[in-house]
Amino acid sequence: MYIAPATNISGELSFPGDKSISHRLVLLSLLNRGQIEITGISDCADVRSSLSAVKQLGIRVTQKGGVTLLQNNSTLARQGHFNIDCGNSGTTARLLAGILAGQPGFYRLFGDESLSRRPMRRIVEPLNAMNANISAGPNDSLPLEISGSRSLRAAKLSNPTGSAQVKSAIMLAALQSFGETTISEQISGRDHSERLFSRLNLPIKIDSQGVSIKGPADLSGNHSFSVPGDISSAAFFAVAASIIPGSSLLLKNVLLNPTRTGFIEVLRRMGANIVTLLTSETWEPYGNISVTSADLRATAIEADEVPFLIDELPALAVAMAFSKGKSRVTGAGELRHKETDRIRDLVSQLKLAGIKCNELIDGFEIEGGSCISRQANLDSCGDHRLAMSFAIMALGSKSGLEIKNSDCIAVSLPKFFTMLHKCTGQKN
Ligand code: S3P
Repeated sequence: MYIAPATNISGELSFPGDKSISHRLVLLSLLNRGQIEITGISDCADVRSSLSAVKQLGIRVTQKGGVTLLQNNSTLARQGHFNIDCGNSGTTARLLAGILAGQPGFYRLFGDESLSRRPMRRIVEPLNAMNANISAGPNDSLPLEISGSRSLRAAKLSNPTGSAQVKSAIMLAALQSFGETTISEQISGRDHSERLFSRLNLPIKIDSQGVSIKGPADLSGNHSFSVPGDISSAAFFAVAASIIPGSSLLLKNVLLNPTRTGFIEVLRRMGANIVTLLTSETWEPYGNISVTSADLRATAIEADEVPFLIDELPALAVAMAFSKGKSRVTGAGELRHKETDRIRDLVSQLKLAGIKCNELIDGFEIEGGSCISRQANLDSCGDHRLAMSFAIMALGSKSGLEIKNSDCIAVSLPKFFTMLHKCTGQKN
């Protein structure tokens, strides 16, 4: 698909519900005897993987007028053999493993080619330390084979990669375990599971030792949630409005959870004009983000900031390419374990567009400032966040860019191009 340069970006945009929060609400329905009502769930392919998994496991799912109802009337439906397709979604596979480890039955979790390459030992080891019976496929990846049982035991565990998916998988297993499970971390990243557990009055404690959950815990009743707009999707538009002169954009009702807003801090440090206005602080904070274009300067991002902006690093790389000076990202080795090796593929594609950059073991360096004038043909490598990053780079370039394999954008934001056309005034 060819993306032409934009003269500017303007107007207002609202986003479908945050993907991370949507997954957690959907998957938690498996442990709740009763009904979960979600307003504004994400409409992306990843969350649809979670929805079809819970349906297959006996949850009644109805969707009408922006409201999704998940009804769990019985746990019996789950006893048996299930072969569950997690698609491209690491969150579905990892969180579901934490739930199913404690549910009697045999479950096989598989996924697409990209998900099948991603590391699963990080959840298999801690869950098996809780007496789960899970085995991974070759290279410690999918398929996962889970013989679920009601005999999970609490454990003291660490989360060395700082992965929120790993922490959440353990927390979900801990709800079904006997005793108190504690998860300690060096830096604690996104905290949606912690907020959700607190909101549901589940037995969670957060202190200097880490996150502790006392099990077994009972979850029942009818619960309603409204999901704020996806901040990781909004990040692409915030970068686009920052780098394209004459832009002014309002991003409405977006999640403003401080464990997800790291990219805003970085963009501000680079000189961006970004103002956030918190409009609600209940459960998950949200509000508006307004962005006007600015001259950006280079920055450095190190390990302590990475958990708060891990998914936004490809978009920030584009901001770096348009800023003055040499930027450097380190402590981000986790990028190599995403939908693609995001360090290798980001750097190789930026080079094709004429940007001076290089790979580091755990990050990358980008020499910004020179205008992007080569009409290159970039490949998303099947990674939705790379595809959207290259698309916004095209908007800021001199002669546009061709993006191959852009269909994967549906994994997180199916309406990306419609939204892009709305604020650039370009035609479909
Ligand atoms: C997510 C956590 C992050 C993030 C992913 C979603 C989550 O992954 O990159 O897109 O919903 O918990 P890790 O847990 O692997 O860091």
